[in-house]
Amino acid sequence: MNPALRDFSTTRASNQQVVFVDATFGRGGHSRALLGELSPDARLIAIDRDMEAVAVAQELASVDSRVTACHGRFSDISSILADLGLVSVQGVILDLGVSSPQLNEARRGFSFLSDGPLDMRMDQTAELTAAKWLNEAEESEISTVLKRLGEERYARRIAKAIVAARPLNTTSELAEVVSRAQPRGTPGKHDATRTFQAVRMRVNDELEELEQGLLGSFSCLAMNGRLAVISFHSLEDRLVKRFIRKLSQAPSLPRRLPVRNSEIVVPGRKVAGPLRATSSETRDNPRARSALLRVVERAA
Ligand SMILES: C[S@@+](CC[C@H](N)C(=O)[O-])C[C@H]1O[C@@H](n2cnc3c(N)ncnc32)[C@H](O)[C@@H]1O
Repeated sequence: MNPALRDFSTTRASNQQVVFVDATFGRGGHSRALLGELSPDARLIAIDRDMEAVAVAQELASVDSRVTACHGRFSDISSILADLGLVSVQGVILDLGVSSPQLNEARRGFSFLSDGPLDMRMDQTAELTAAKWLNEAEESEISTVLKRLGEERYARRIAKAIVAARPLNTTSELAEVVSRAQPRGTPGKHDATRTFQAVRMRVNDELEELEQGLLGSFSCLAMNGRLAVISFHSLEDRLVKRFIRKLSQAPSLPRRLPVRNSEIVVPGRKVAGPLRATSSETRDNPRARSALLRVVERAA
């Protein structure tokens, strides 16, 4: 376990039951590592919006009574915890993006490397699939999303090609349209990575989730409690960095305002980050190459 995460898992409040939240349970790698550090009377709340991840969390809960499994979005963390009768917690971890099982299963429709339905929903109970969005959205909206969420320089050409090729139903069809829409001889011509990332982020409302998830998670922290966030690309990391900077800075007040330093409340303290995965971590998990970890602590 990364030392920054180990410190995070040992954050303690002396007279309270220690409660941690893994708000992106996935297959439970972080949860299992946290459980290894937590005392027998601690609690771990495992949240994921993916039913398959929640099924794994439920299995873990059946063999470890410290674990409670919850289906939900981390933007709803405050109400999920309130439903469990919890007011504040010592730590929250957000490990953003898709899990390896989501990417690797063709039937989930996240990858252009294997053919599957254009689904891309992290939460199988959500209504909006990638096919529904791609087949119904205006061309201008598709273009804006590809540019903003995928940083795709050929966003307008690709959006036009998508609209001309509708209805699209499979990942191969989308990958083929993207590939044909890019100019001949473009390096990485067959690379549909940016389009797939953008569509996935739109279908799952990922940036809005992150904004609400950061606010909600920080607001649930007890004094000295910590929020650890692992992001995988610059759009996410920018949001996390700004959020932590804003929490850790004194508010800018008009110069002559008669306020003592002791009266200025700074709610957060930056603890770590950006930290990259160690070489042994990237050897075990190559996707960790682009991961950045940032940690903030409640200070007031
Ligand atoms: C990178 S994986 C986490 C992997 C996990 N740390 C592990 O060790 O297996 C991200 C997980 O977060 C979930 N997820 C993404 N956004 C979410 C959100 N807004 N609310 C709840 N879960 C979310 C995904 O379904 C996925 O299972």
